[in-house]
Amino acid sequence: YNVHNFSFIVKETNFSRLCGSKSMLTVNGEFPGPTIAVRKGDRAYVNVHNDGDYGVTIHWHGVKQPRNPWSDGPENITQCPIQPGKNFTQEIIFSDEEGTLWWHAHSDWTRATVHGAIVILPDTETTYPFDPEPDAEAVIILGEWFKGDVKELIDNATATGGDPTPSDAYTINGQPGFPNNCSNETSYSLQVEYGKTYLLRIVSAVMNEEMFFGVAQHNITVVAQDGSYIKPITTNYIMITPGQTMDVLLTANQTPSQYYIAATPFFDSSAPYDETNTSAILNYTGTYTPPSSPPYPTLPNVTDKDAADAFTSQIRALASADHPVNVPQDFDRRILITVSVNQLPCEQDSCDGPNGTRLAASLNNISFVTPSIDILQAYYRSLSGTFDDDFPSFPTYVFNYTGVSDDEYLLPSLGTKVLMIDYGKKVEIVFQGTNIGNAENHPMHLHGFSFYLVGTGYGNFDNTTSPDGYNLKDPPAVNTIGIPKNGWAAIRFVADNPGVWFMHCHLERHASWGMATVVIVRNGTTEETSLLPPPANLPTCS
Ligand code: C2O
Ligand code: CU
Repeated sequence: YNVHNFSFIVKETNFSRLCGSKSMLTVNGEFPGPTIAVRKGDRAYVNVHNDGDYGVTIHWHGVKQPRNPWSDGPENITQCPIQPGKNFTQEIIFSDEEGTLWWHAHSDWTRATVHGAIVILPDTETTYPFDPEPDAEAVIILGEWFKGDVKELIDNATATGGDPTPSDAYTINGQPGFPNNCSNETSYSLQVEYGKTYLLRIVSAVMNEEMFFGVAQHNITVVAQDGSYIKPITTNYIMITPGQTMDVLLTANQTPSQYYIAATPFFDSSAPYDETNTSAILNYTGTYTPPSSPPYPTLPNVTDKDAADAFTSQIRALASADHPVNVPQDFDRRILITVSVNQLPCEQDSCDGPNGTRLAASLNNISFVTPSIDILQAYYRSLSGTFDDDFPSFPTYVFNYTGVSDDEYLLPSLGTKVLMIDYGKKVEIVFQGTNIGNAENHPMHLHGFSFYLVGTGYGNFDNTTSPDGYNLKDPPAVNTIGIPKNGWAAIRFVADNPGVWFMHCHLERHASWGMATVVIVRNGTTEETSLLPPPANLPTCS
């Protein structure tokens, strides 16, 4: 494999958007941050130097990091933050990932501005498993722009227990674009030549909403998701959740002109959200009179879950000889996890949650409390008092999850409970959405793995039956899945990566409220199936 070295300087930088400017945390002064490009199976060393004002960590979203959680990054899960003036060289071990992934800060809400793409090309002996071979490639990062300081925003929301203020615009490659104020001229522009095909590597770095995305008058063909190839899907829109990545082919086959590329929210909940659209320009080369108002894509309505499902339900793994599917055909252990938004009693004079409560969120009715020293360290050194290893395999309270709420279940318990899994076990996890506080879609993400999405459905998962209707032939291998509102999603994987792996909703509001847990995969019996030793310059906990 090849070794790559990158230098990430985390620092405050000034940016102007939406008729205003602010200082915000960036990597190397860029927004979005720099792209890391490697080939399959390579290794990258990223020296992260913190020149900012507060501690940060960086996570390599979707990179499995075999036996190496030390460089995975979530704050106080696998490491303590890199303090201002300090640095940490993270070792990124690529294995079978191929396509597009991304990196982002994993402390507070810093990822709003600290993120970038990871491009993983096929190894030199092989090529893309789709047609046609793209003539050129571009990274498209969907993001959010907050007029205010993001750290202040989440600190305020935490203090008051209410819903954090939504963003002021979505962005494509850092630009809000038309129809946002002051942003029309500075839209991201994708230059294309008639007849050529482009590979767009789309990353959703959006904080709190799922998104529809499309290009006016052009179909796109999705060929990969989350760093894994899928059977090509030709469509006029995609739905992408926070945390997901999708590689799509776009052929410039329309009359040379200008066309809008746009993204709009998909949000089916009563919680507040950013209601704006974002756009970029698809700009054909050649001589023509640019239209005064280029065509805008027609995207599904904000609550159109049928449109979201229609797209998502088509996704199948490529499942070719070169890119096989290894989904466990049975399981050693099924784990059922309820996913809820809850309310806690207010411990101060008044809170901004519903009826004066404090908003919270939970898995199996346990609202995750982030410890003050990292769980990986505590686990590796057998230090007690940092976490409990008794995260339940099943909800302790069984009722009709998608029916009426139950008062008792409104109250989650608080704790740092970890789900222990033995090395090599074939695991099935079923995530059951509930409508306890607020029914919503939840993009659930697990570090350290890609897993197979074998089934989804509406209503209550029936734990007593065998999983008829599962896709055990060509399920997509992904790292983030949308649990449908008032429904469930089932995943399978082999627990073959020993380590401490964060699992959480990728809606940042929900993660902050405790919709998270940690999966610890125990060591196997050999050195090759055990954790690597910690790196020398791992940040210390204060
Ligand atoms: Cu995209 Cu826990 O992260
Ligand atoms: Cu969620």
